[in-house]
Amino acid sequence: VQAHLTPKLLADKKILITAGATMEMLDPVRGITNISSGKMGFALAKVATQMGAEVTLVYGHATASRPQVRHAYYAGTAHDMYQSVMQHIADQEVFIGVAAVADYSPLVSSDQKIKKSEQTLTIELKKNKDILADVASLPNPPYCVGFAAETERVLEYARQKRLDKKIPLIVANRANLALGSDNNSVILIDATGDYPLDTADKTTIAAKILTHLKHQLN
Ligand code: CTP
Ligand code: CA
Repeated sequence: VQAHLTPKLLADKKILITAGATMEMLDPVRGITNISSGKMGFALAKVATQMGAEVTLVYGHATASRPQVRHAYYAGTAHDMYQSVMQHIADQEVFIGVAAVADYSPLVSSDQKIKKSEQTLTIELKKNKDILADVASLPNPPYCVGFAAETERVLEYARQKRLDKKIPLIVANRANLALGSDNNSVILIDATGDYPLDTADKTTIAAKILTHLKHQLN
């Protein structure tokens, strides 16, 4: 089924999507980041737009080419992404957190390039705020979708994340299969159960995720 060709399944729905990776700067030329091509988040933004949604994309570092969407904002760090999402979240009906947000950032970021000296270098990190969990705990939250890329115990960890973050839907996948690939193999997990999707290209996966969540919206 070419679900993404279904005309206007998400007509006029306001959807905010995060995509790509954040990079936490140590100095002006170095940072700590996660691996993310941006492909899955961009595919969701593209297909949601085709389905008639008014998409807001908050994107970080990505190698994939960014689709044309109604609103797009660059956010390079976890802090910037948090600020941008919170600035644009009011009256969104759906929030999909696909970005690989850095969990920690350097306690201090140097204004100048750090010079090498000793044989070992210790960097102190502080935990970043959880964008998805904070959006889900807003007074009148949008329908929230999370992604869990795991290397082991995929279902168990993903189910726990859905509960911890108090979100209705999480998309579980294997980090080693999904990262950078054009294809993905995912399991949708919501309150009604687990729904494994056939391995497919990320556009097809995006269409199936959006079709699934559409049926959960009132
Ligand atoms: N997420 C977020 N803000 C963060 C960290 C994660 O919005 N600071 C979102 C991601 O976009 C994803 C979901 O939370 O949709 C799960 O991210 P993941 O890294 O798998 O889970 P964490 O809760 O960060 O747990 P851990 O990395 O320890 O597995
Ligand atoms: Ca994380």
